[in-house]
Amino acid sequence: MMKTTREYFNSYADRWDEINRYDEPPEEFRKLVALAGVGRGRCVVDLGCGTGVLIPFLLEAVGGNGLIYAVDIAEKMLAKLKSRYDFNNVIPITAPASDLGGVEGEVDAVICFSSFPHFDDKAATTKEVARILRSGGRFLIAHFSTREEINEFHSRQEYPVCNHFLPDLREMKALLEDRDLSIIHYRNKDGRYELLSSKKD
Ligand SMILES: C[S@@+](CC[C@H](N)C(=O)[O-])C[C@H]1O[C@@H](n2cnc3c(N)ncnc32)[C@H](O)[C@@H]1O
Repeated sequence: MMKTTREYFNSYADRWDEINRYDEPPEEFRKLVALAGVGRGRCVVDLGCGTGVLIPFLLEAVGGNGLIYAVDIAEKMLAKLKSRYDFNNVIPITAPASDLGGVEGEVDAVICFSSFPHFDDKAATTKEVARILRSGGRFLIAHFSTREEINEFHSRQEYPVCNHFLPDLREMKALLEDRDLSIIHYRNKDGRYELLSSKKD
């Protein structure tokens, strides 16, 4: 039987943090959080949060009065996150990125770190992101690799990840601009991919 994306990530949850090591120093994670405009008292969604690699940096940025929604389709990845970050202001939600009904009110930022290529319905995802973002809120898609490096790496993985690609800029622009998300920063070089958009007023 072919695995679904959810089954794939669930099957790796126990070993995920050993397999998926980031060598980048904490400063590089802090830069991403700052790029998404996440600061004191803000509300942010970590979309495709996995076991929670971004959570300590988000907690540090938002402080005690901020709120973090940690959303992932794979409940076993989220179970790991829950066991590590049992904070009142971290709300784990098991859901696909294309259905963010569990997020209450408007949020200041949504970050997809190393996750967007895996989302099966990217158009429904950008629609949901735009729905939950406040005007002027930021949507960051980021990787510690370029688009070419990510897509090449995924093409060598087992099913279904071998089919999970980051679209080119033209396609991303269409996905975002269809939803009133204007691109305000783009970088795809020197081992980094950052696509930052902002919701129009
Ligand atoms: C490569 S992992 C990255 C996890 C984490 N951000 C990190 O860097 O360690 C991708 C994550 O996206 C999640 N994911 C895949 N498809 C999803 C979807 N449609 N909706 C929400 N999460 C999804 C997976 O379960 C997985 O935890």
